[in-house]
Order: sequence, then C-alpha cells, then structure tokens
Amino acid sequence: MQNYDCVIIGAGAAGLMCAATAGQRGRKVVVLDHANKVGKKILMSGGGRCNFTNYEIEPGNYLSANPHFCKSALSRYTQWDFIALVEKHGLAYHEKTLGQLFCDHKAKDLLNILLAECESAGAEIRTHCDILSIERHPDTGLYTLTTGLGVYQCQSLVVATGGLSIPTMGATGFGYDIAKQFGLKVTRRDAALVPFTFKGPWLALAQSLAGVALAARVTCNGQSFAEALLFTHKGISGPAALQISNYWYPGDSISVDWLPQLKIDEQLARWRSAASKAQPVTLLAEHLPKRFITAWLDHFGLAHLKEKPLADWRNEDIGQVADTLHRWPMQPTGTEGYRTAEVTRGGIDTDGVSSKTFEAKNTPGLYFIGEVLDVTGWLGGYNFQWAWASGYCAGEYV
Ligand code: FDA
Repeated sequence: MQNYDCVIIGAGAAGLMCAATAGQRGRKVVVLDHANKVGKKILMSGGGRCNFTNYEIEPGNYLSANPHFCKSALSRYTQWDFIALVEKHGLAYHEKTLGQLFCDHKAKDLLNILLAECESAGAEIRTHCDILSIERHPDTGLYTLTTGLGVYQCQSLVVATGGLSIPTMGATGFGYDIAKQFGLKVTRRDAALVPFTFKGPWLALAQSLAGVALAARVTCNGQSFAEALLFTHKGISGPAALQISNYWYPGDSISVDWLPQLKIDEQLARWRSAASKAQPVTLLAEHLPKRFITAWLDHFGLAHLKEKPLADWRNEDIGQVADTLHRWPMQPTGTEGYRTAEVTRGGIDTDGVSSKTFEAKNTPGLYFIGEVLDVTGWLGGYNFQWAWASGYCAGEYV
C-alpha cells in the first residue's frame, strides 16, 4: 500500500498544475497516468508550439450549463499568473493573433516548465499506470486505488482525465465513469472545436473549393466569429469553423458572411452606376478568389450573372448576390468527431462541484478539474487557461 495525501489521475495540463501547487503546499502528491508519457496534448497543441493562454480571458469565452462556474477560478488564477510562471522559467513566447500566446520554439519547453515545477514541489509522476478500481472507505473517507502499479491510498483524489478528443493520444471517458460511480451527473458531450463535414451538393461544393481559405464571419445560435474559414475535401475547417462548432448542434445551419468588411450590394450599385465595362467576375475578383466566385454563383443558380454586363443587372440580381454572399447558409451533416476535435463540449455537471475548491459537493475528498468538467473554452488558449486555473485552485485545497 502506497500512502499519499493526494493522488491525481491524469498527467495533463490540469493534473500537472494541480500537482505542482499541492506539492508546494507540502502535500505528498502522486500523479498517475495510463499513457506512456505525460502531457501529450500539450505537446501536440498549437501545431507543436502550444497556444498556452490568451491576453484576453473572460468568462464569456467559455461554454457551460452554468456560465458562472468558471468565474471564480479564472479570477483567482489569471492569464497574468501563468505568464509570470513561464517568464520565471525564461520561456520565449509571442502573440500570434487575437491575444493568443504561443511558445517561440516547442511545446515541450512549456511541458518542461510544468515538470520542473512538479519536481521542485516534490510531486511524483507515474506513467503506464492503469487504474483498475477506486473505492472510498465509508468511515475514514480515504480513497483506495487499485492500479497496474500497485495499490495507492489517499485523502484527496483529483480526477484530471480530460475530455474524449483524440483517443489515439490516450483520451478516455474514465473521468465521467468516476463521476457516475460517486453519484455526480454528467451532461451531454459532443466533439467541439472540430471541422464540419457535408454531404450531397454542399460536399461537392466544398471539394471543388478545397484549399481555399477566406476571412469570413460565421454565425450560429446567436454567436459570431470573424476568422479564417477553409474549405476541405470533407467540408469546412479553419479557426472560424472550429470556433463556431462550439455553438453548433446537429441540424443547425451556419450563416457565413464572406465579405464582412464590405456591403457588396452598395459596391455593385457603384460599379453599375459607373457603367463599368469589366466582367462582373473580374470586378468581384478584387475582393474574392475567382475560383470561389465561379463555384458560388454556380451553386446558387446565379451562373447567368457571370457574363451579364453590370449595367444590365437588375436590383434583384444585386440583392441575390448580396444575400448569398453575406448570408450564405451552410447545413453541415456533422463534424469530424473526436478523432480530430480539440475538445469535448459538456462533461461533469458543475452543479455537483464547488467552484472554489473543485471538490464534489456530495463526496468529500473527491475533486474534478480541467476539461473533464462541463466547461469548454473557445479556440485560442482558453482551454489551457481553464486547465491551469482549475488545477491551481484545486491544488490550494487538496
Ligand atoms: P488532458 O487531456 O491534457 O490530460 C488528461 C490526462 O489524463 C492525459 O494525460 C491522459 O493520458 C490521462 N488519462 C485519460 N484517461 C485516463 C485513464 N483512464 N487512466 C489514467 N490516465 C488517464 N487548448 C489550448 O488552450 N490551446 C491550444 O493550442 C490547444 N491545442 C490543442 C490541439 C489539439 C490537437 C488538441 C486535441 C487539443 C488542444 N487544446 C488546446 C485543448 C487542450 O489540449 C485541452 O483542453 C487540455 O489539454 C485539457 O487539459 P486536461 O488536463 O483537462 O486534460
């Protein structure tokens, strides 16, 4: 029997942060992970450079059945706290866009900071550790974990097993099973921050435009994002598609504005009154790629306008062009799923968890942190900031 004050399941972003914080308080901590190495998602994140936080972190950047739940932790451990930590270790980083902070070199540099913090705090880490069963002693309240590496006993058990995305990297639903075992509710879960897939004519259109990326404004269920949108051989991807996937449910349609900075009806009317002799496609090509213009007009039955001199365009023609370009309705069939999703939307119902300590309200000594909870951030470093904040705050109490 190996005795610890605190056992943390999951050596990812939240688990390592929690281990370092608890260890620094003098708690005897061990982190158990079934994978062959720690922090795999950190290593693969941000194209290998880890978008580790964002200059602009607000509760409004997160989705949850209880939008207030994330507020306390985000205000007690902010992006500035994490930036101070990485600066203490001399990490070279830069802002890429929209406040998103990336490592200059490799995500491994960031992981090494967390591991150094764990080491200096005396927190131990075990990989290749399968957890076979968990029991809580009804009298002592101690937890007993039977694992492939022996039996562990602890006062505080922290579940930091993350979400379901990228199962090949070690993601499992184990955290949800533990929650259910101890009587906590788990909300509906969906792949999120994920590319969309199409069928039929929409798929044909996407395939004909595969590789074309444009700055667009996408809207779904009252939420909009203005970022790059990319056509793929399966549907759409790029930051705008990933962001809006957080707000999309099967059956919903997404509206796309391909020229958010311009009122194309006013521009077309100006060209018409200037009696421009240029082909409409040539004029539109000042704002959009030719390949896109052709595919768009064909798809919406407006191919006849390609050759029609602008002087002859009726207001109705201009209206149709403006309507399809500014409010292009897209009906995804689905998403690429957990295979490529960056996160899981939904998770352990936060009503059952303290937003201050992250302890389960019905089970003393049991804590849940990070993505396993029903808190999902936008693309742009928000999910890691949630992992750092929830890991740190729980680490103060475990
Ligand atoms: P995380 O997934 O990091 O860790 C969970 C750990 O639990 C893993 O080590 C896993 O092996 C372990 N585990 C799971 N089941 C277990 C079991 N049964 N037994 C033992 N251990 C188990 N976010 C962001 O803010 N910026 C970014 O740049 C990116 N980029 C990005 C790229 C890609 C490709 C993905 C998939 C995700 C991102 N993310 C991101 C999201 C971010 O990686 C994610 O939200 C955090 O890693 C969540 O941290 P957690 O610690 O909660 O889980």
